[in-house]
Amino acid sequence: MVRLCNRAHPKIVYAITLFKILCRNAGPGPHVCRELNLLSIHLRQMSDSKTYSQQDIVDMDNIQRLNMINAISGFKSASLIGTVDGSGKENLAIFNSVIHIGSNPPLLGLLVRPLTVPRHTYQNIKETGWFTVNHIRKEFYKRAHHTSGKFREDISEFEACGFKADYSKLCRAPYVKESIVRIGLSFEEETEIKANGTVLIIGAVRELTVPAESIEEDGFIDLEKAGSLTISGLDSYHETVRLSREEFVRLPENLTKNN
Ligand SMILES: Cc1cc2nc3c(=O)[nH]c(=O)nc-3n(C[C@H](O)[C@H](O)[C@H](O)COP(=O)(O)O)c2cc1C
Repeated sequence: MVRLCNRAHPKIVYAITLFKILCRNAGPGPHVCRELNLLSIHLRQMSDSKTYSQQDIVDMDNIQRLNMINAISGFKSASLIGTVDGSGKENLAIFNSVIHIGSNPPLLGLLVRPLTVPRHTYQNIKETGWFTVNHIRKEFYKRAHHTSGKFREDISEFEACGFKADYSKLCRAPYVKESIVRIGLSFEEETEIKANGTVLIIGAVRELTVPAESIEEDGFIDLEKAGSLTISGLDSYHETVRLSREEFVRLPENLTKNN
């Protein structure tokens, strides 16, 4: 049973709104007003929220569960993974599971669905030891989405979805020419996730190409400037708007050391 929770009494919301108006006109300082503002937004949101138990989720219709659980982990990276098999047949597939593993040595991870059916990206990575991660941009995200189709092994998604393959001297796997943030990786190791049979592939970053104008002085890459998109769920594509870059958090000793 889905439970409606914390329904805010309309009178409370009304009282807060009234108090806010008074604050604005004469009353307490801006801090109090800001807190009240946040509280009223929170109350309004909570009054319409739903809570699901694990059993509710298990009992859900398959498509509804898939959509909901794919969305709750938050906005994810949007990448095309380029690979090639031992005979030179190229493959391209969209993935939203590229994650940071570590910066020294530079490592990225990629989660592959259970190997219960042929997974061409996985097979090719194991066969050649190479793969590329290519960020997705607005100009081609619809074609990028199309690469998720279950194309036959002998069909290249580069051709079927209208992308050009591009090779560097070092990386054996193909890059996507249309992509301007590209990473070439060599296979390092894999781990089977026992809970559901998915496979975490770890790759070492061997080569990285980014537009010079998106690299900030301290090395940070402004992905918004580079036009990289983000994904929520399995079909919702987003541009981003940065709020700010924050300072590294350095705490005084009395907050980090036990007495
Ligand atoms: C937005 C989106 C994200 C996806 N992310 C992943 C992923 O992280 N891992 C995965 O195994 N499949 C993912 N898929 C599914 C693959 O794109 C799909 O299974 C594709 O056919 C794999 O191609 P392959 O067999 O050539 O590797 C995703 C699909 C979409 C639409």
